[in-house]
Amino acid sequence: MKYNFDEINNRLGTYCTQWDYIEDRFGEKDLLPFSISDTDFKIPKPISKTIQKVSQSELYGYTRWNHEDFKGSIAQFYKRRHDCEMNLDWIVYSPSVMYSVSLLIRLLSKPKDKVVTLNPMYDSFFTVIQDNDRQLESHYLQAQNGTYEINFSLLEKQLKDATIFLLCSPHNPTGRIWTYEEMEKIISICKKYGVKIISDEIHMDIKLKENKHIPLLSFLDIYDELYTASSCSKTFNVPGLIGSYAILPNSQVKDEFLHMTRKVDFLNSPSIFGMYATMVGYTECDDYIDQMNDYIRKNMEYVQQFLFENLPDFHFSMPDGTYLGWIDARNVPFTSEQIQDAFVHVGKVAIMKGETYGKAGEKYLRLNCGCPKAKLEDGLQRMKKAMDWLYNNQKGGGPKE
Ligand SMILES: Cc1ncc(COP(=O)(O)O)c(C=O)c1O
Repeated sequence: MKYNFDEINNRLGTYCTQWDYIEDRFGEKDLLPFSISDTDFKIPKPISKTIQKVSQSELYGYTRWNHEDFKGSIAQFYKRRHDCEMNLDWIVYSPSVMYSVSLLIRLLSKPKDKVVTLNPMYDSFFTVIQDNDRQLESHYLQAQNGTYEINFSLLEKQLKDATIFLLCSPHNPTGRIWTYEEMEKIISICKKYGVKIISDEIHMDIKLKENKHIPLLSFLDIYDELYTASSCSKTFNVPGLIGSYAILPNSQVKDEFLHMTRKVDFLNSPSIFGMYATMVGYTECDDYIDQMNDYIRKNMEYVQQFLFENLPDFHFSMPDGTYLGWIDARNVPFTSEQIQDAFVHVGKVAIMKGETYGKAGEKYLRLNCGCPKAKLEDGLQRMKKAMDWLYNNQKGGGPKE
């Protein structure tokens, strides 16, 4: 099936976090948003047909996820798309990836234990560690030639007395897809010090270059303290349908996870819609993923060209994966606050500031490119308008309404 990702879908008035509630993050209404990570695309047709059929049934009783249709769809998908095998018994349902990450942190460590994560990082990683009363230690990635590198000797020092390494793979916000060699090094260091690894693979299907996502699970023959949380919600744009899964080869941890979800948090029934989205998405929608990847790649190329031609102080190169553009504004002769202020008040555009993702994100921008190209064109023109204003008024006291 051919999908039309150019189609403009009006999301206003749908209780949509990105569009209807932009004021919460940027303090202003009526901004063109490139913020929270969902796409503006319609979902794959096979999923929408199934959802419509289920909704027309008017039967939405308690629902089971623990069957071969759900778990098999995940296992088949990992095998087909990511060349990775798993046992169906390892798979558990979870309402969201961050629910899984939070619960796994509690199951795998004690209060005050050290949890290491990379920086910059998806901001919820910082809060999920700290709000669970664990000690957060950031490993600052090194920006090198437009990409980001882990300093493995430093990481080893940091992991020596840690309990968990919390990995985002592929990495939000930089879009890095960790190579086999990098994954191998992470695993060997963690194994050496008995550090458990939690990998959030929610962005695994958006791939813009040749390098492939290597699931954490691929290393199970080397090390067994490996815990994965993922979802089809980014891939098919279905976070509002609710549903995700965790892959827990350690049967004791799996049983504890199930006990917590069923007997403590009482999350017994999955969302029927989320469950169907996973099953149908993972079995019938590869064409959607491939076409969306092509579309996002072209969007990224467009951003690169536009910035190069119009705003050369901003540096941008194509990420390995994700639909998040990570733009380096460190050469721009204004502060992040001045830039944001001009974006919001002059350009009327909402782009996440890099500081949201930690210290190593200072003076970067995270631009969500999971949208029709026309929106991106509009957004970049707004960015340019804001920056032209700043360059022309650089001695002024900042933009006013
Ligand atoms: C890396 C990463 N993990 C998790 C999430 C959130 O997933 P969920 O809503 O399933 O918790 C996001 C959303 O932006 C994300 O980027």
